[in-house]
Amino acid sequence: MDKRPVAFLDSGIGGIPYCRHFVSRNPGEPVVYLADHANFPYGGRSREELREILRGITEELAAREDPKILVLACNTATVSALSFLRDSFPRLIFVGTVPAVKPAALNSKTRRIGVLGTRRTVDDPYIQELADRYGGGVTIFPAAAPELVEFVEYRYARSGAEERRQAVIPYLERFRNLGVDGVVLGCTHFLFLLKEFREEAAPDLGIYDSVEGITRRIESLLDGGLSGGPGGGLAETPAGGGAAFRRFYVREGSPEGESPWPFWAAGMGFELMKL
Ligand code: DGL
Repeated sequence: MDKRPVAFLDSGIGGIPYCRHFVSRNPGEPVVYLADHANFPYGGRSREELREILRGITEELAAREDPKILVLACNTATVSALSFLRDSFPRLIFVGTVPAVKPAALNSKTRRIGVLGTRRTVDDPYIQELADRYGGGVTIFPAAAPELVEFVEYRYARSGAEERRQAVIPYLERFRNLGVDGVVLGCTHFLFLLKEFREEAAPDLGIYDSVEGITRRIESLLDGGLSGGPGGGLAETPAGGGAAFRRFYVREGSPEGESPWPFWAAGMGFELMKL
C-alpha cells in the first residue's frame, strides 16, 4: 500500500462531509484534512486571487504531507483553479468537486434545475458549460448563498433543528417559484444541511450532491493501482496493523474567541495541527 495520505482541502469545514464519507468507507487509508480558514470565504474572492492562494497552500501541503491525491473538497476552488493547479503541479493527482448538474438534469421533468453555490461558483462560466455538456437542454437557475456558507461555518455547530430548517427554506421557496424540480447543492458547506434540505424539499424538489461521486472517483484512482500495482490500491486495514494516520490542518487567520478547530478535529478523530 502507498502510505501517503489522501488530502482534502476546503476554505473551512465544508470538505468535512466529503472527508468523513471517504474515511467511513476506507478506514485503512491515511487521510489529512486542511481548512484554509485564514482565507475564508473563498466565494467572495476573484479567480486570480484564489489561484494564488491555492498554489501557495498546495505547495505547503505537498512539502509537508506529499499526498497521493489532493481532493479539492470545494466547488469554488475547483471551478476557479483546478486546471491551473493541474498545470502547476503536474506530478500531483487532483480530484475536483463540481455541482452535480448531470443527475439533476437527467431526472428533471420541468427541464429547470437550481444550482446553489457561492457567488464565485455560480458566476463562473463553468456552470453553464456543465449544463451544456450534461444538461440535455435543461435551463439552469443559479443562486449565490454566501449567508448560508457563513451560517454553516460559524453557527451550524451550535444551531438547533428549527434554526437549520429556517436557514434552508427561503432558498427552496425561491427555486419553487422558478418552477425547478431539482436543486443541486453546489457548495460543500451545504452538505451539513442535507437532511434539512431533503426534508423541506420533499415531495416536489429533488436534492442533488456530489459526495458519493467524489468518493467513488477517489476510490477508483486508488484502485486503479495509483500506488503501484499488486499490494497497492485501497487499504482495507491499516498498513502494518497500526491505525492509519489522520491529521486536521488548519490555517486559522486571526481567531476571535474560542477556537472551533479542536471540536471539529476531535469529532473526526483527527489530530489537530497548524499550517
Ligand atoms: N465550501 C466551498 C465550496 O464548495 C466554499 C465556501 C467559501 O465561500 O469559502 O464552494
